[in-house]
Amino acid sequence: MDTSVQAFWLGHSAFKLVSPEGTQIYVDPFLSGNPNTPDDWKDPDEADYILLTHGHGDHVGDTIDIAKKTGCQVVSIVELSGLLKKHGLPKEQAVEMNKGGTIEFDDFSVTMTSANHSSSFQGEYAGEPAGLIIRFEDDLSIYHMGDTNIFYDLELYGDLYEPDIALVPMGDYYTMGPDEATSAMDLLRPDYAVPIHYGTFPVLTGDPETFKELVEESTDTEVWIPDAGEDFLAD
Ligand code: NI
Ligand code: MN
Repeated sequence: MDTSVQAFWLGHSAFKLVSPEGTQIYVDPFLSGNPNTPDDWKDPDEADYILLTHGHGDHVGDTIDIAKKTGCQVVSIVELSGLLKKHGLPKEQAVEMNKGGTIEFDDFSVTMTSANHSSSFQGEYAGEPAGLIIRFEDDLSIYHMGDTNIFYDLELYGDLYEPDIALVPMGDYYTMGPDEATSAMDLLRPDYAVPIHYGTFPVLTGDPETFKELVEESTDTEVWIPDAGEDFLAD
């Protein structure tokens, strides 16, 4: 990939992205309680932004602790943003948005999309679940699909946003499994796909190798299966 963005999968749906200028972005930082997060990634000392797809514990994870420690901005849908503040996120660090909107930050932008799932935080309704399209100044676009099943709008998102890389939940049980996620790639048509939300808990039985085989035999998308903590954009 022709980009100097760094991208690390940290187990489950958690990622750290680093812009070419060094902006540190976490997405769905479920780290300290995540059995697949490498030990040295469990307690970040620095962060500039946290982006959240929805309110479930395996996505919000350590958000409030990291935010308090680092002073980072936390971007999420309106209702979840309200709940995070109620649970201790300092007001000035909360950035609320909604679907269809794009916010330009220092050297990247975030567009919030639909996801077909549910969302709650600490037992309260947390607004709708979302996906996030993250675009960097060198034109790299990464679509974190959040937790979702398949929906036809993915075809529109493919046309509108032309994602280079899709981060695709395929562990089954709470999201798509490999078969449905393969059909989702057929609609979305990213250049690359990275399977996520598998193997964390015993019920998440969807196999990333099966996903890779199915996607690569039926679409033009190439599937990468990174190890946790590895920069999968490095040459
Ligand atoms: Ni969820
Ligand atoms: Mn989840």
